[in-house]
Amino acid sequence: MEIIHFEHNKQAAELVAKWYDSPPLAYVHSFGCQQNVNDGEKIKGVLADIGYGMCDSVEEADLILFNTCAVREHAEQRVFGNVGALKRLKKDKPGLIIGLCGCMAQQQSIVDKIRESYPFVDIVFGVNGIDTLPQLLCEKIAGNKKRILLTPTERAEVVEETPIRRDSNFRAWLPIMYGCDNFCTYCIVPYVRGRERSRRSADILAEFKELVAAGYKEITLLGQNVNSYGKGLEEQIDFSDLLNLLCTVPGDYHIRFMTSHPKDASRKLIDTIAAQDKICNHLHLPVQSGSDRILAQMNRHYTVAQYLELMDYAKEKIPGITFSSDIIVGFPGETEEDFEGTLELIRKVGYMQLFTFIYSKRSGTKAATMPDPITRKEKTDRMARLLSVQDEIARKLVADMTGQTQRVLVEGSGRDEGTLSGRLTNNLVVEFTAEPSLVGSYAMVHLTGSRGTVLKGELV
Ligand code: 5AD
Ligand code: SF4
Repeated sequence: MEIIHFEHNKQAAELVAKWYDSPPLAYVHSFGCQQNVNDGEKIKGVLADIGYGMCDSVEEADLILFNTCAVREHAEQRVFGNVGALKRLKKDKPGLIIGLCGCMAQQQSIVDKIRESYPFVDIVFGVNGIDTLPQLLCEKIAGNKKRILLTPTERAEVVEETPIRRDSNFRAWLPIMYGCDNFCTYCIVPYVRGRERSRRSADILAEFKELVAAGYKEITLLGQNVNSYGKGLEEQIDFSDLLNLLCTVPGDYHIRFMTSHPKDASRKLIDTIAAQDKICNHLHLPVQSGSDRILAQMNRHYTVAQYLELMDYAKEKIPGITFSSDIIVGFPGETEEDFEGTLELIRKVGYMQLFTFIYSKRSGTKAATMPDPITRKEKTDRMARLLSVQDEIARKLVADMTGQTQRVLVEGSGRDEGTLSGRLTNNLVVEFTAEPSLVGSYAMVHLTGSRGTVLKGELV
């Protein structure tokens, strides 16, 4: 069969236009972290560039793409369930193209499983293969060639200028680096997303300026470990320098960033947040565990005392700062004493929000080889205890905010009819009655009370 080489998207667009009677529709669903959601926006941008419209249901679609996450086993099982459910759809609509991409697609074992058990999947490509999508699609359309591409994790260059179709017109993700070098022993990310690569600051600044000019209010800088931004670049720049550079762009906007690694989060970073009004007074600093023994087993390179010292410094320098964190419960060998260390730590810090996960064994990682004698029941019990302690902490912190008047970015509808939901710079959410036309803009809201961990307020 003829091999088709597409040098750029224009040729792909011509083929797509010739092949379909009317513009085809794509359904793209991204699982997992913000980095993956941003990749999904790029996938949609590339598809729009070659003539696809977007749709919200698999039934309407000519192309279905699942942009997957591999961080926990549960996420992988969900994807297989979703893909399996498409088999019948494909029978009824033979021209339907089904694709799987993202972190799961970077793993040989997953690709093998797709080949063996899901033969109706047409294209597979990994996180570094978004720019190859037009070619894969065209080969499928014109040559009816199934394309399973295992994208090398080490494909090292940073691809700039991929088209993008953003999900929101007032909140944007802006990746500043890709990959991770940390090899926390539980984590699959370094194996699927490869080594750390930072984008050049000039490229980030250019995209940032475009976003501000387009009216974006909230720009979230993304990276697996933003605090090691700059490593390997020719220019001498660190994450704080990058933040200071971006803050020179005039406009009405604010900056968030994630994720920070405690071992690299510096006092300089805290000082930068304190000095720059445009950076939100919220820090997501995943601690994972409150036991030094477990932290060492996790290869995290900090102790509880070092972590707490940085948090105290942040509290002192940035009045009103709030914290959030990721916690893993039931890491292999976690004892009751280790777990109590975690409870003690979360009480000391006083997080506004926790993202909590029961340890999930990922094959290929170091922790997967560690003895794990704790029963599932023990792990779920610990999780329930953790959630209950955290709920109490968060409710109190939220309730203590009442009486203040704060600027919020209005994000969408609230839970009750006629209400809107807005986010404070400290990342708390407030609901208040107002016109839907306010969505996407800033509003001043007086905080009158709370319901659980959500504030109630009145538009000023
Ligand atoms: N099991 C459970 N949670 C995990 N995370 C990463 N890998 C695993 C795993 N194998 C969590 C960590 C990380 C977050 C994004 O996901 O807490 O910070
Ligand atoms: Fe995974 Fe650790 Fe890298 Fe985060 S810093 S992506 S938890 S290896």
